[in-house]
Amino acid sequence: HSVAVLGAPFSKGQKRRGVEHGPKAIRDAGLIERLSTLDYPVHDFGDLSFQHLEKDEPFMHVPFPRTVGRANKLLSSAVSSAVAGGHTCVMLGGDHSLAIGSVAGHAQQRPDLCLIWVDAHADVNTPTTSPSGNLHGQSVAFMLKDLQDKMPQLPGFSWMKPFLAARDLVYIGLRDVDPGEHIILKNLGIQYFTMKDIDRVGIQRVMEETLDHLLTRKQRPIHLSFDIDAFDPSLAPATGTPVNGGLTYREGIYITEEIHNTGMLSVMDLVEVNPVLAASREQVESTAGLAVDVIASCLGQTREGAPLPFQEIP
Ligand code: ARG
Ligand code: MN
Ligand code: MN
Repeated sequence: HSVAVLGAPFSKGQKRRGVEHGPKAIRDAGLIERLSTLDYPVHDFGDLSFQHLEKDEPFMHVPFPRTVGRANKLLSSAVSSAVAGGHTCVMLGGDHSLAIGSVAGHAQQRPDLCLIWVDAHADVNTPTTSPSGNLHGQSVAFMLKDLQDKMPQLPGFSWMKPFLAARDLVYIGLRDVDPGEHIILKNLGIQYFTMKDIDRVGIQRVMEETLDHLLTRKQRPIHLSFDIDAFDPSLAPATGTPVNGGLTYREGIYITEEIHNTGMLSVMDLVEVNPVLAASREQVESTAGLAVDVIASCLGQTREGAPLPFQEIP
């Protein structure tokens, strides 16, 4: 099969500038070249162009609702077409509000999908529980069927309906969960692994339990939504909401290798790379280079070497 790369230069799910340059930073770090060393055709569909809305009044304390809603509608059709075209789709953000459109578009084609959310944050605030108002901290709340009666109808979002059951979602890497989010995680019985859980049982057991939880009843498509701030800020400094005590390089790559090994990865997001917030060019390059490693590993790059058929020693 083949891979489709889709850039989503968008930042209105939060208030800092620069995250719209994420797709360019990740491409400049050599993404397409790296993917072409793996064994299948890579189609770079370029970047979506999002419309600027002149008038977009806040809803409660949530800024840019119509802008975010419309961008995600566009993204959802793009992801849906890529999946329908038989591609494994890689979405480059942009801020994490883009997961709304990415997962919704994926679900249009594959309603039986499950979601693995790798992030320091749970991004499951409702407009009511959100301390910041920012939509990149609310993406999962828009998807969950179980939260439907807690979600107000936001302008810009009438195109979508919640589509995901709480049992079809697993979080990995959490270490900054807001009080309202914690109540939601507990009330809905969502499976999650915090950094403390990784400290306690190790990343190997976390991945075993994650994949057991999602795939034992049946094999089905995986959506991986990877927020670069899941990594420790020493590895991924160029991001808008860094939190100390994150994933090591090896833990992050172990997660993606195990997801690749299922053979079920169908769409992935790589979000929140913000080159403008880096203190130096080295920081931009290390953060974007890490993003390239994560994506390549999801798509089959291994630490053991290329997974070629058996060959004689030359
Ligand atoms: N929980 C905080 C909020 O709701 C931070 C969210 C950060 N999200 C992210 N995708 N980086 O605003
Ligand atoms: Mn985050
Ligand atoms: Mn996030």
